[in-house]
Amino acid sequence: MNEHESADRTRPVEYDHVDVSVLVVGAGAAGARTAIELADRGVEDVLVLGKRGHGDAHTTWARGGINGALGTHDPEDSPAIHAADTLNEGHFLNDPGKVETMTEQMPDRLRELDEWGMAYSRTEDGEIDQRFFGAQSFRRTAFAGDHTGESLLNTLVEQAQKRDVPYRENVMITKLVSDGEAAYGAVGFDMDTGEFVLFNAGTVVLAAGGYAAIYDRHTSRDDENNGDGPALAYDAGASLMDMEFVQFHPTGMAVDEDDPEWAPWSGRLVTEAVRGEGGRLFNADGERFMERYSPDQMELDARDVVARAIGKEVTEGRGTDNGGVYLDISHRDADFIRDRLPRMYERFADLGVDMAEAPVEVAPTAHYGMGGVAVDDGGETDVDGLFAIGETMAGVHGANRLGGNSLAETVAFGVAAGERIAERVDGPGAVPDALVDSLVEPHLADLTATANRDGAHNVESVLADLRACMWTHTGILRDEASLRTGLDALADLRERASDLTVGPVTSESFELAVDLGFSLTAAETVLRGALERDESRGAHYRTDHPEADSDWIRNIHFESADLGGIHSYTEPVGTPSEAVRAALDEGHELDYHQLE
Ligand code: FUM
Repeated sequence: MNEHESADRTRPVEYDHVDVSVLVVGAGAAGARTAIELADRGVEDVLVLGKRGHGDAHTTWARGGINGALGTHDPEDSPAIHAADTLNEGHFLNDPGKVETMTEQMPDRLRELDEWGMAYSRTEDGEIDQRFFGAQSFRRTAFAGDHTGESLLNTLVEQAQKRDVPYRENVMITKLVSDGEAAYGAVGFDMDTGEFVLFNAGTVVLAAGGYAAIYDRHTSRDDENNGDGPALAYDAGASLMDMEFVQFHPTGMAVDEDDPEWAPWSGRLVTEAVRGEGGRLFNADGERFMERYSPDQMELDARDVVARAIGKEVTEGRGTDNGGVYLDISHRDADFIRDRLPRMYERFADLGVDMAEAPVEVAPTAHYGMGGVAVDDGGETDVDGLFAIGETMAGVHGANRLGGNSLAETVAFGVAAGERIAERVDGPGAVPDALVDSLVEPHLADLTATANRDGAHNVESVLADLRACMWTHTGILRDEASLRTGLDALADLRERASDLTVGPVTSESFELAVDLGFSLTAAETVLRGALERDESRGAHYRTDHPEADSDWIRNIHFESADLGGIHSYTEPVGTPSEAVRAALDEGHELDYHQLE
């Protein structure tokens, strides 16, 4: 343990030092897969940090599947058609290079996971089964019942353990050490002991999730996906891209908020696999309303289309008492549902609903941030040595994401980043003394001052108000006036966030206070991006600009500017390969009626 004087020279700040060549921040599928790749390429001086216990990452909440053109049922499928579907769903704001980095790899990645023992659901012939998922031309979504994320992460953790990948639990990173040109490591604290730690690392990989939990109704755990990954990178000098694109999953649980048994489930994911296995949506009048909105693709149209349709039904008075619609799979028999959707079946059975007998209530919920950190095809940012992968990065999904592509992205970019890092890694970094003085120690002094603070505002209530603000002002439907009101409200929230009551470093309120700072950064870029993009595209729907505008086939970037300012610019999107252009020209699309 070193003892140093804080920058204000009034209080000593103690912190531990850890030296490592590659620091992976985040222990979900993306982080674990990166570490495995590095180990297989002989890079051993790696440390993976998890905010929770080993194996407990948000990946475990991913349910319905992972995409790859294996062609188990539909041999005509191919990586190029997978890429074409991904670009179509992303309304051509995706970076085609990144899309192909993923789609080309995925058949191999899925087989590799099979060799590693992943508990896939199988066909009668023992092949990896694949199910229908929204807006995909073929059955391409491999799955393990409806606990695909859990099975994936278990498999990766086991492989990482076999390779003796060093892992440290319960550590939260609060700041990256960067001079804006290069990253030198990260600062954080041990959530059990409260000890501050400076990680000297020549390479830092952010695999820390996204920002969908900055919304009131969300599918994530409350303490994950608060924007920490993107906000850490932004603060370190990287640019954020496509932040305005937030996916509202059509089927989150719609519950009686006054019922203590149901209330904690509000907004939680009812996997798309329910619809992929034939589930149908009905409004409160018993009408299968998707026939009006999307007669060809029905319940399996793109998530934004289905989410807006449900929203419209509810707004126009055809919703349930709990503000949702019905999702019904009771035409399938109980054994089928228990086999294909075991977790959903159990969850609703515990709450007293038998999915084989009765429908469940659902409504849209914030699920995924398509935006994130701008990176190249190896996951590297413009800040030397700083990488961002998985939901923390941007570029694969464009204006909307295909279900099953998030898990695909985690493993594909874990491998891509691992490959790139193995080429460049050259030992632990050394944080320059000047940065210790100007950045590390003042930051630790700030953290020390945040702890045990007796301010005017409660952190949970500020966070709740931030989430409500985002839901109200930059939700499924947006317009200029409301976005401007949201930005004004955000300024007030920032004011309150500077005067919080917070417990000790090991307390939940301290963790939430740090999260709140990250969430405010993410929220501002979402609001500003949504305001700047005066068109509708994918998940971003402006009621005052309801059409797509071809001039807007550009990505909006945000970078931090001097004096806490924010600078935005736009960049054009790349061109797909010839094979993908050909697949696009062939015009593949899902034929829903095969399911009936
Ligand atoms: O509905 C789901 O199971 C979600 C999958 C995904 O977002 O990829």
